[in-house]
Amino acid sequence: MVNGMRNGVIAIHRDGLLALMNDEAYRIFSLRPQPDDLGRPFSEVFCDRPEVARVLACAFELTTLPNRAELRLRDLNRVIGYTLSQVRDDDGGPVGAMLFFKDLTLVEQQEERERLRDRLASLGEMAAGIAHELKNPLAGIEVNAGLLRRQLPDSPAAQALVGDIISEAKLANAIVVEMLEFVRPIRLQLERTALDIVLREAVLMAESSTPRGDVSVTMEIQADLPMVDGDDQQLSQVFVNLMTNAFEALDGKGRIVVRATAEALESDPGFTSETPTPTQVVVIEVCDNGPGVAADLNDRIFDPFFTTKPKGSGLGLPIVRKIVDAHDGRIDLVCVAGQGTTFRVTLPVSSSATWFK
Ligand SMILES: Nc1ncnc2c1ncn2[C@@H]1O[C@H](COP(=O)(O)OP(=O)(O)OP(=O)(O)O)[C@@H](O)[C@H]1O
Ligand SMILES: [Mg+2]
Repeated sequence: MVNGMRNGVIAIHRDGLLALMNDEAYRIFSLRPQPDDLGRPFSEVFCDRPEVARVLACAFELTTLPNRAELRLRDLNRVIGYTLSQVRDDDGGPVGAMLFFKDLTLVEQQEERERLRDRLASLGEMAAGIAHELKNPLAGIEVNAGLLRRQLPDSPAAQALVGDIISEAKLANAIVVEMLEFVRPIRLQLERTALDIVLREAVLMAESSTPRGDVSVTMEIQADLPMVDGDDQQLSQVFVNLMTNAFEALDGKGRIVVRATAEALESDPGFTSETPTPTQVVVIEVCDNGPGVAADLNDRIFDPFFTTKPKGSGLGLPIVRKIVDAHDGRIDLVCVAGQGTTFRVTLPVSSSATWFK
C-alpha cells in the first residue's frame, strides 16, 4: 500500500537505519533502489542527498518537528513539501521517525509562472500608458522643429541643430512604437507546424544578425518529431531570440546545442482526482556553454527592459515568454553553475490557444 502511494514515504529506526522507502520517494530523490537499502544507515543511503539526510537527522533532536515544511533540492531543481513525525511505542518512547512528502516542483513552477505573468501584465500596462502619453508630445516636437527649420533658411548651424532635434525625436518615437508593439496582444495564426524547419531557419536568421564566429551549432532533433499547432512566424521569433542571446553570450567562441524531443508530461497526480492522462509535448532546448546567468538574475531576465548588454533593449526574453504563453507552452531557464545556459521551451503537441490577450 505504501509503495503505491503518490506521496513519498521514508521511515527510519531510532538507531538511524532505514526501515522503509517507497517508490515515489526513490523517484522524487532520483535514487536507484538497491537491494540492501533497508537496514542501512540513512546517512549512507542519502549520501548524495545531504539535504534529506539533514532533515532525517533532526527527527530525534528537535522538540517540535517540521510540519508542512519545504525543502529545496538544488541539484535536482526540485521542491518538496514534507512532514516529519516520530513513531512511538506503547509507552510513548520514540522508536523511529517518518518522513512524509510530496513533490511540489510543478506547483511551485506554476505559481512562479503566474507571479511572472502578473508582473509582466502590470509592467506592460504601465509601459503602454507611458508610450501612449509620449507619442503626442513627441509628434509635437517633431512637427514644431520642422516648422522652425523652415524659418531659419539662412542659418546652417541652427538648421543642423534642429535637424538633430528631429532625428532624436524620431528615434524616441521608434522606441515608443516598439514598446507598444510589445504590449499589444498577440494574434496567432495557428497551423500544423514542423518545428525542425522552424528551428533550422531560426539558426540562419539569428546568424544573419549576430556574427557566429567560431561557435559550433549542433542540432539534435528527434527524427519523428510530432507537429505542433503553432504560428511558425512567432515560434521562429522565439528561437531567433534565444539563439541570438546564445550567440551574444558566447561572443564568438563556444558551442550551442539545439535539442528537440517528444515527451509525455505527467500531470501532477496529487492534484487531480481522476487518473492523470499525460500531455504530449515537444521539448526544445537551446543550450550554450557560455558564462550562464547569475543566480540572482534568474528571476529578472524575463522582465521587460531588463538587460545586461550595453545595446540591449531587454525585450528579447519577454517577447519569447509572451509567444510561448500564447501557445499554452512554458519556458524555463535551466542554469547549472559553470555549465552555461539552457532555455527549455515546452510546447503542447495540440494547443487550445488561438488568441492571446
Ligand atoms: N544565453 C544566455 N547566456 C547568458 N545570459 C543570458 C542568455 N540569454 C539571456 N541572458 C541574460 O538575460 C538578459 C535579458 O535577455 P533579453 O533577450 O531579454 O534582452 P537582451 O538580449 O539584453 O536585449 P535584446 O534581446 O532586447 O536585444 C540579457 O541581457 C542577459 O543578461
Ligand atoms: Mg536578447
